[in-house]
Formats: sequence, structure tokens, C-alpha cells
Amino acid sequence: MTVLTVLGIETSCDETAASVVRRDDDGHVEVLSSVIASQIADHQPYGGVVPEIAARAHVESIDGIVARAMGEAGAGWDDLSGVAATAGPGLVGGVMVGLSFGKAVSLARDLPLVAVNHLEGHAVSARLGADIPYPFLLLLVSGGHCQLLEVAGVGACRRLGSTIDDAAGEAFDKIAKTMGLPYPGGPELEKLAVGGNPERFELPRALLGREGFDFSFSGLKTAAARAAVGLTSDEDRRDLAASVQFAIARQLAERTEKAMKAYAAEHAGTPLRFVVAGGVAANRAIRERLETLCRKHGFDFHAPPLKYCTDNAAMIALAGAERLALGLTDPLDAAARPRWPL
Ligand code: KG4
Ligand code: ZN
Repeated sequence: MTVLTVLGIETSCDETAASVVRRDDDGHVEVLSSVIASQIADHQPYGGVVPEIAARAHVESIDGIVARAMGEAGAGWDDLSGVAATAGPGLVGGVMVGLSFGKAVSLARDLPLVAVNHLEGHAVSARLGADIPYPFLLLLVSGGHCQLLEVAGVGACRRLGSTIDDAAGEAFDKIAKTMGLPYPGGPELEKLAVGGNPERFELPRALLGREGFDFSFSGLKTAAARAAVGLTSDEDRRDLAASVQFAIARQLAERTEKAMKAYAAEHAGTPLRFVVAGGVAANRAIRERLETLCRKHGFDFHAPPLKYCTDNAAMIALAGAERLALGLTDPLDAAARPRWPL
């Protein structure tokens, strides 16, 4: 039995993260450590992530975070089979910090390098918490991404649809900001929505009747910003938050249901599995709607544990280990890619 032990590095947004993951030939996965340093406090005064502040913070903390991940895993450099680093998509200054660090480890310790697509990391993240076999239908909903994917393994993800403007988390964050809530606004808006009337404000439905599985949130964002003007009473604000959450959940559910029908037709007679990943998967209202859809269409529902839903390096280490197992490695001149669709 071959066991691969991989160091993963993630620096594509506002989290500096490192992790050591072990994976055996059967695909069984063990997370030996997963360390995350969040920069949220650095960015909070600006109401969003400032790329240069992020890159500077990564360069200051990467060495300590990797040392902690190795220490908590009880691993020495000689125990590693390879090093995996996010090479995009994301804020390129941060990506360059993590990728360069990964290259340095690869060169100094003569280890294979895997340049991982961050989205592929999210795509495999559910396998960190449970042995979920491929293939599955994935809804990836985070601050940076909103996509429906068919995932058959690393190097075998097929994009069914994606947002044509904002990501779902970005819509939550921007609308929350116009309502005066702190960053990141998704969880704040969810809290405010408790007890609110989701039918009070009618918000637009995007791309209705259009072919395919794409998303759009910019019309909703504009309408919500307009509705927010002059709203001061607690009740009004609660109702708007509940209406926004409802409208986002409705769009996610409508597209997912369409994709489930197409996926089920293509995979008739095989077990149907659905995974929701990304920070927005933490939202209770959204999760409940998706669970209901799964029951209706005969899919098993899965979501990674929350710590692997949001950005982390364990998912990068796992994607790296799965690539390594297939012999997929990258040269030391691998590029940092701000845009890199799956
Ligand atoms: O996956 P993630 O940590 O980072 C990205 O890769 O973007 O996702 C963060 C996003 C933010 O937009 C945040 O507002 C949103 O996930 N989020 C939520 C909730 N918790 C986090 N959105 C709605 N409801 C929540 N409970
Ligand atoms: Zn992410």
C-alpha cells in the first residue's frame, strides 16, 4: 500500500493556511494538521479584502504557519511525499507568496511540486470529512465563487454553470455592507434575518427562462441597495435581510434543481450524490432548501465540515495528494494564475 503525505499551502485570499494530509491507495484520507491564520481583522476597517494588505500579511506569516502545520502533524520534511500550493485563481499577490514558498520547499527538499487550482481544492473538500466516492454534483458557493460542477476526480471536473457577475457570498457581503453590517456580511445578514418576513420585499429573479445553469446576483444587489435606503426600524431591516436571504437561496435552489435533473438523467441507475461546499454552505436557510431538493430528487446530501467549507489548506493538500497519486506534478516555473477556470 502506498501512502502519500502531502504539505498543502493556501494563500489565495485572506487566509494564510498550511496543512499536512495523508492519503492511501484506497483513497482513505487523514488530516494530520490544518492551521489557518485569518486576516479578517486586518481588512475589517476597509469593509472588504485589500489585496496588497493580504499579500503583505501572507509573506509575514507563511513561514510560521507552515512550521506549525508540520509540528502539529508530527511530521519532518523527510516524511513528505510532495508539496502542493494554490496557484490560482485568486488575488495574485497572495498566490505568489504561497506558490513561491511551495517551490522553495520543493527545491530545497527535492520533493515533487503540485500547483493546485483552488477550485479543485473546494471540489475535493467534502472527502476530507467522509469517504465520498466520485462522481458527484457539486454546488460551490463562497465569497469568490458560485459554480455548479460535475466532479469525477482531480483533473476531471466539468463546469455546468457559474455566475456571470457576483458570487453568492459576494452578494451577501455587498448587500450587508449597504445595510451597514460589518464584514464579512453573510453571517451577519443571516443573524439579522431571524424572525424577518422573507416575502415583505419582492426582489428580482435573474436569468429566468434562460438555458443552462448560470447564476446572476447583480440585479438583486441593486434592488436590495435601493430598498435599504431610509430603512431604519429593526423590523424593516429584519424583513429586508430575510427577503435577501430568501432570494439568494431561491436562485441557488432553482439552478441546482435544474442541474440535478440533468445529472440524474445522465447518471441513471447509479448512486446520486450532491455536495455543497464553500463558506455560504454555512447558511441554514440555504442548506435546508438544498437538503429538501436532495430528498425530492433522490440524491445523498453531503457538506464538508464547516472548517473545510471555508478556505483551508487541507483541501489543497488533498487535491495535491490525489494528483500526485496519478503522477500529475508541475515544474518549478509553474505560473501564478489570477484567473483559472476549472
Ligand atoms: O469559502 P469562503 O471562506 O471564502 C471564499 O473562498 O470566498 O467564503 C466566505 C464567504 C463570505 O462571502 C461570507 O459572507 C459567506 O461565505 N458566508 C455566509 C455565511 N457564512 C459565510 N453567507 C451566508 N450565510 C452564512 N452563514
Ligand atoms: Zn475559496
